[in-house]
Amino acid sequence: MLPSADQNEILRRRTFAIISHPDAGKTTLTEKLLLYGGAIHVAGAVKSNKIRKTATSDWMEIEKQRGISVATSVMGFDYSGYHINILDTPGHQDFAEDTFRTLTAVDSAIVVIDSAKGVETQTRRLMEVCRMRKTPVMVFMNKMDREGKDPFDLMDEVEKELQIHVTPVTWANGQGLKFESVFALSNRPAELTPKMEEDLEMIDGVYPQFDKEAYLRGELAPVFFGSAYKTVGVQELLDFFVENAPSPRPVMAEEREVEPMEDKFTAFCFKIHANMDPNHRSCIAFFKICSGKFLRNTYYKHVRKAQQMRFAAPTCFMAQKKETVDEAYAGDIVGLPDTGNFKIGDTLTSGEELHFRGLPSFSPEMFKYIENADPMKQKQLEKGISQLMDEGVAQLFVSQLNGRKIIGTVGQLQFEVIQYRLEHEYQAKCRWEPLQMYKACWIEVNDKEGEAELEMFKKRKTQYMAYDKERRDVFMADSAYVLSMAQQDYKHIKFHFTSEF
Ligand code: G4P
Repeated sequence: MLPSADQNEILRRRTFAIISHPDAGKTTLTEKLLLYGGAIHVAGAVKSNKIRKTATSDWMEIEKQRGISVATSVMGFDYSGYHINILDTPGHQDFAEDTFRTLTAVDSAIVVIDSAKGVETQTRRLMEVCRMRKTPVMVFMNKMDREGKDPFDLMDEVEKELQIHVTPVTWANGQGLKFESVFALSNRPAELTPKMEEDLEMIDGVYPQFDKEAYLRGELAPVFFGSAYKTVGVQELLDFFVENAPSPRPVMAEEREVEPMEDKFTAFCFKIHANMDPNHRSCIAFFKICSGKFLRNTYYKHVRKAQQMRFAAPTCFMAQKKETVDEAYAGDIVGLPDTGNFKIGDTLTSGEELHFRGLPSFSPEMFKYIENADPMKQKQLEKGISQLMDEGVAQLFVSQLNGRKIIGTVGQLQFEVIQYRLEHEYQAKCRWEPLQMYKACWIEVNDKEGEAELEMFKKRKTQYMAYDKERRDVFMADSAYVLSMAQQDYKHIKFHFTSEF
């Protein structure tokens, strides 16, 4: 176990992400939290990493904006004795995969909902990931200063659509033009309007008391109302958050569960941010520390490469400044400058042979064959594809029938990014060929009968079978109909849309 001073450092850490549908107010809320932390001094200081709608077809512009986001990848600050790390998530849905991975590095999340729009698609998808990982979440109903949906309807919507129980912690005095303030339900105003009395009676009748254990299990979300823009209801959220949100939680490795307070250092890589400058092919590998304490210039084991490495210039992120750090604790994120040693999912330890569970891959939404367009540059192309996949830019599948390479993404933009980077960083040229594909399904059987059925299935469907990067079998279903037929015909085979089940 670590000495108690170090344990206290870990206990005061709160590492979380704010998730929302674009435009719900994530940037505005982040900024207000930073203002409370004294990390910034004027509103408008946080550059939105949101990709402006007008620029969606111009991905160079997007990359420029993504450059900004290195600085806002992690925003650390102190508040009320706690050390807070906010992990930023890309707003553009074509980079949803990045966001999924970031969620593997947080200990909790705050979901921001636009009270006029209610639960939107991106929120639903991100919440699925939180549910899968049992991440505790709090909900902030934003934009109460605008005419919006009824607060009770909003809470019903969250319960139904995000499949989580809710209980309000604050309540809004009015809504839209009449919105003034919020109050804590544990500390109600003496004077109440009849409407407010009615609301409170309803709340007491319908919603349970806040139960911290249920929240920590990811079953109950406390709900807050407010306006990030007008800075109303934000401090109530922040105070409740630091007190109740979990400090770093134990993390499951293949070998065993790792406790944050162990004195041995362990960490995993959840994100690699490439420098887009072709003259400096350098990256920052982002590691979440799972246990112990990280020290600069100290040797750690890169488990996959069975190699000792030390880092002279690790960075931490205080507010928007990237600073070299001498030490960091479980719960923190360190950025390690890298020139191609790391890939997503890599583990660093003080020496132990430990593998953090691979981050789940989700079935891509779009698929294309990638072909070599310059026969002289085959090697460069192979290398480029392999490194870009390690960085998590997209997923590679290889057809079991003919060995053709298939790239899967969540959006068109990623194809453009890959093509551009292959050309500029690897001097290789690629060509895309269309492929009509519905989903990539990881398949699983649990018994002897299933194994026989799987053999049969693979034989019959050879042309639809591929390997993923770990050489696992993947069934490439070309339509929802084909998939549902397969599910009917092969009852012993389970079809999964994520690689971890
Ligand atoms: P995002 O990061 O989730 O995409 O959202 P962001 O904070 O950028 O907010 C999106 C828009 O919603 C912004 O307006 C922002 O000012 C506004 N907004 C955020 N919170 C509130 C709120 O509580 N009440 C109201 N009325 N508006 C809010 P914009 O016009 O797109 O940008 P700007 O010109 O205001 O910067």
